[in-house]
Amino acid sequence: MLPRIQFAHLPTPIEALPRLSEALEGPQIFVKRDDQTGLAFGGNKTRKLEFLLADAKANDSRTLITGGAVQSNHCRQTVAAANRVGFDCMLVLTGEKPARPTGNNFLDQFLGAEIIWAGSGDREQYLDATFKQAEKDGKQPYLIPYGGSNEIGAAAFAFAMKEMLNQDPDFDWVIIASSSGGTQAGMAVGQRMFGYQGQVLGISVDNPAVELKERVAGLAGVTIRTLGEQDEFYPDEILVNDEFLGEGYGIMGAPEVEALTLFARYEGLLLDPVYTGRAAAGLIELIRSGFFTADQNVLFWHTGGTTALFADQYMDALSAQ
Ligand SMILES: Cc1ncc(COP(=O)(O)O)c(C=O)c1O
Repeated sequence: MLPRIQFAHLPTPIEALPRLSEALEGPQIFVKRDDQTGLAFGGNKTRKLEFLLADAKANDSRTLITGGAVQSNHCRQTVAAANRVGFDCMLVLTGEKPARPTGNNFLDQFLGAEIIWAGSGDREQYLDATFKQAEKDGKQPYLIPYGGSNEIGAAAFAFAMKEMLNQDPDFDWVIIASSSGGTQAGMAVGQRMFGYQGQVLGISVDNPAVELKERVAGLAGVTIRTLGEQDEFYPDEILVNDEFLGEGYGIMGAPEVEALTLFARYEGLLLDPVYTGRAAAGLIELIRSGFFTADQNVLFWHTGGTTALFADQYMDALSAQ
């Protein structure tokens, strides 16, 4: 059994979205509220951090180090988890310090992270240098990979699948936003270990499907072996759709704006502009193109990120609606 420090609010609720389902004239849509995992506005990384923080503790670490985009939800949840457990936290972020931090970046600073700005340089190099310096300074650092996506973080989503099956085993589809792949890899493991009969489809947020399938399959293999089963996964078993990449990572286009608006105005449900907005735009397009049948039950797994709505650029775009 992997060590775990429990701070997430689990199980997250599953809710029906009847008004949205009716408006789209498609399958029955449900949502799993991982935007409600509880830690500083929650999200999918909170589940991963329960296992990563326990591992950091078992390694006698004192400082968490991770990296991401300026509006990284992973970084916001990592500094909150660090505070919860009593670690220091250093974040290596892409770009320059904004004149007025907003959204997740405001929260990173408010929660007290030490932020290292990588400018236009290679963030991974900065991360590596920051880690080595922290070691020299006696900070006992623990490196959390991008998105918390290693076998320890991903394992959390194997257990999340079990949680879903205990709530309702009858979803034909699970739809998620997939990026660094840990969430989808963990779900693939959970699907196999706990016998989920439906299908998991990752809507890629930023990577070509070939690359993401390979990454998810590789990580799912290491994760299932970490959980004690000698097994492996092949890229062809992993379902990824990369038709919704739009103008690129973090760029909210018309499909995301429509998705955010429909979820908000039919169901009072807030999505985020980068991940769940893109996945929901994919879901809507798949419904319109007849991908699902009307009698199917589709679970949209809300992985969080709504704090990014309050980043200046997204507020400006959405206020224009
Ligand atoms: C809100 C949200 N959804 C989905 C994802 C994607 O999860 P993963 O990186 O495990 O693929 C992220 C990752 O940052 C996220 O912040």
